[in-house]
Amino acid sequence: MSSITRISISLASDVLEKFDALSKEQGFPTRSEAITHLIHSSLVQQQWADGKVVAGAITLIYDHHKSQILQKIVDVQHDFGNLVICSQHAHLDRHNCMENIIVRGEMRQIQKLHQGLSAVKGMKHAVLSMTTTGKDL
Ligand code: NI
Repeated sequence: MSSITRISISLASDVLEKFDALSKEQGFPTRSEAITHLIHSSLVQQQWADGKVVAGAITLIYDHHKSQILQKIVDVQHDFGNLVICSQHAHLDRHNCMENIIVRGEMRQIQKLHQGLSAVKGMKHAVLSMTTTGKDL
């Protein structure tokens, strides 16, 4: 763990009031924890903007009765096999499935995988959660 440095910042009082209210609502124990969280969020966004090696999860919702959809989902994942760490499948009801695919790799490749899965015929929803490998935070 890195050492702690104490800083002083100036904020407009109404901004501070809103920030404190938001931090309290979100359950942060201190302002320092809340600000660290915001800085980490910005750093992760920058990693994605810079095309760095990142991590994420692609969550798919689809009806498994749709023709060939399972095969197509597997085919697309095999095209990006170096990115996929693992996946988890849940049967939401008699028709709908949720699949969560954990990925790590170059940002543009992950976006291509996400786009490829989004474009599978019959896909109801495909969302990419963008996070970090955690190494540079
Ligand atoms: Ni299922």
